[in-house]
Amino acid sequence: MRICFVGAGYVGLVTGTCFADLGNDVICVDNNEEKINLLKNGGVPIYEPGLNEMIARNVGKNRLSFTTSITEGVEASDIIFIAVNTPPLPNGDADLSFVETVSKEIAQTMKTYKLIVEKSTVPVETGEWIKHTVQINNKHQVEFDVASNPEFLREGTAVHDIMNPDRIVIGVESARAEKILRELYTPFNAPIVMTDIKSAELIKHASNSFLATKISFINAVANICERTGADIIKVAEGMGYDTRISKSFLNAGAGFGGSCFPKDLAAFIHIAQKYGYDFKLLKEVENINNEQKKLVVTKVKKAVWILKDKKIGILGLAFKPNTDDMRRAPAIDVIEMLQSEGSVIKAFDPVAMDRAKQIFKNITFCKDPYEVAEGVDCLVIMTEWNEFKEIDLSLVKDKMANPIIIDGRNIYDPAKMKELGFVYHGIGR
Ligand code: NAD
Ligand code: UGA
Repeated sequence: MRICFVGAGYVGLVTGTCFADLGNDVICVDNNEEKINLLKNGGVPIYEPGLNEMIARNVGKNRLSFTTSITEGVEASDIIFIAVNTPPLPNGDADLSFVETVSKEIAQTMKTYKLIVEKSTVPVETGEWIKHTVQINNKHQVEFDVASNPEFLREGTAVHDIMNPDRIVIGVESARAEKILRELYTPFNAPIVMTDIKSAELIKHASNSFLATKISFINAVANICERTGADIIKVAEGMGYDTRISKSFLNAGAGFGGSCFPKDLAAFIHIAQKYGYDFKLLKEVENINNEQKKLVVTKVKKAVWILKDKKIGILGLAFKPNTDDMRRAPAIDVIEMLQSEGSVIKAFDPVAMDRAKQIFKNITFCKDPYEVAEGVDCLVIMTEWNEFKEIDLSLVKDKMANPIIIDGRNIYDPAKMKELGFVYHGIGR
């Protein structure tokens, strides 16, 4: 099939590449010239395991190409996915201006039937606005359909998630759109939830909000564990064997971040409010998440007393492992809180350093965890990269001014840390 992705970011680029790998002809459009030039020259703008090889393979087979021209993308395709960013506005609502711009541009360019699919995460009823926008800008008066096909990939495992989906959600208004999308998704061999556009839009917001709720729930339980001497790891394990609860998303820690959970929660709360429902549950999910980040700083303070002029080492900056994405990373809040009290920060992340350098001022970026440990009063684990689990902790201890570790991701065993001579505090243990 001939497919265009408008927006070649974490979603558009990876999904487009996976569709190409299944034999489709895919063209990725982005208005960021630097990104498109890099892709055209064989570079890849994001870190995502397995992506580089897959892009190279499909470009080599002439099934995947890149352009800044939406006209070129629309002309070359029958299905057009809108995968632009939908960032939060200051009031929590989703900024849909990029979606509107792209809808208008597609409408003005299309000369034959097009199926326009919203892939970006958007509030319920956006599909209707896309349809309206296309209708009023339909210069050549061609037939078109709008559909919703939310994306559930996780960064860091995006290629795997797209190729092995738990389910495919498709919202349509016509049999023609349904037929095309069923055919496109046949090779994935996953259950297809076929529904109306509004339900598909709501499935995405409800899914992300539910997962975020699970994280805040376990973080709240972790706080009870800390006060009573119970161990959150065992509590989560004991809960997780119940298949109705499941083990996933029960890792207590320094809170959730990323470009999606915080933004989608805020947007869901906002759209609920707009329709007269006060989604208090989700507001509390946000509150608990904000408190978790403050908890990390409180733990540092309790361990070192005065924060001013203390050297604090941060291991892990990305919002989760296996990505270079720094958007809404909990490490940003924690570092800013520590800096506001006068702490001196050293940091290392295996892949997010370049992006982190664009965000942080007055931080010493180090070449590895051992350089971070050199002379610091306390080490804080903010991202559970595998390589931190394997470091030589005795060497780390020798290098530190004081052997204190605040483990915001519970990657070490408290008993072993005690044995090694660390003052060690995890979350909920
Ligand atoms: P991103 O910022 O990585 O990519 C968006 C791209 O769209 C950018 O490259 C930007 O230059 C481009 N763009 C913006 N306006 C454009 C225009 N007018 N014309 C052409 N290109 C334009 O964002 P992302 O992380 O890929 O997310 C995209 C959407 O998918 C969001 O709604 C997000 O919530 C949703 N989503 C993201 C993930 C994820 O893990 N990142 C997962 C599922 C859903
Ligand atoms: C999340 C969802 O998992 C995807 O299904 C969805 O498509 C995506 O958002 C999106 O809409 O953009 P992602 O943000 O890439 O994916 O990463 P997650 O693995 O969900 O982690 C999000 C945050 O929650 C991270 O900061 C992570 O550290 C934190 N987290 C996750 C926990 O604190 N505990 C957990 O048990 C799980």
